[in-house]
Amino acid sequence: MTKILTITNQKGGVGKTTTCVNLAASLAATKKRVLMIDMDPQGNATMGSGVDKHHLKNSVYEVLIGEATMEESIITDAPAGYDLVGANGDLTAAEVELLQLPRREFRMKMALEKVKANYDFILIDNPPSLNLLTVNALAASSGVIIPMQCEYYALEGISSLVGTINKINKRLNPSLKIEGILRTMFDPRMSLTKDVSDHLVEYFGDQVYRTVIPRNVRLAEAPSHGLPALMYDKNSRGSVAYLALAGELIRKSKQHDKKQADKQEQED
Ligand SMILES: Nc1ncnc2c1ncn2[C@@H]1O[C@H](COP(=O)(O)OP(=O)(O)OP(=O)(O)O)[C@@H](O)[C@H]1O
Ligand SMILES: [Mg+2]
Repeated sequence: MTKILTITNQKGGVGKTTTCVNLAASLAATKKRVLMIDMDPQGNATMGSGVDKHHLKNSVYEVLIGEATMEESIITDAPAGYDLVGANGDLTAAEVELLQLPRREFRMKMALEKVKANYDFILIDNPPSLNLLTVNALAASSGVIIPMQCEYYALEGISSLVGTINKINKRLNPSLKIEGILRTMFDPRMSLTKDVSDHLVEYFGDQVYRTVIPRNVRLAEAPSHGLPALMYDKNSRGSVAYLALAGELIRKSKQHDKKQADKQEQED
């Protein structure tokens, strides 16, 4: 079954894009069929996958407002090794234009309908805000990955994010759940990091991924080469951590699918 995952946190610079690009590359490296969708007008995930955001034939903008189909917009030969739909500054206009369109919260969900069976994982990167673009991503997804930096203000804003996810779950998408909380840019030498990390585990329990992403300079350098870290330096601690995350995600989703199948069997 296709897993559609939104990577979001309205806080800026917490590692959303880094996670989206490197998780996509790691899943692709394990032979999973992956589509990445850039829902951020900054276009960082597009550039980080080796695609020039200034020269997109079609982008997420055209898909959302209905000027192009998803099939027409997927780039299949990106250097990063997974399929993707790119974004650039045009997407800023979509938010306003969407307001006038029918089923404005479900444009991404509808667009994915025809292609989703071609993929094992669809990962959606988001801007640092909770707007109609993010709502579109959440309405189309089965799970949310929340990257968090273990610093003093990390937990600020998390309740409004969880509140939004709950609201979307009630009103627009009953299958939406928190897939996992990911600790990013982790520096165990800082005692504050450990304190915040402990708080996260207290608050979210086993929703917190066991895999931790360390602060690693290769992860920060790779985007300037238009490559995921796995292709830039496959032995770096950052690459290894994202491979581990992909493994954890695959194991978790297998367990989840099995539980669903058992439940179904009991009901029949
Ligand atoms: N684990 C890491 N180690 C070192 N640098 C990192 C790590 N993760 C991300 N970075 C760097 O931190 C900065 C912010 O990361 P990133 O762009 O992934 O965050 P973001 O949440 O997508 O930001 P935005 O909210 O602007 O979209 C980038 O320069 C990135 O290269
Ligand atoms: Mg980003």
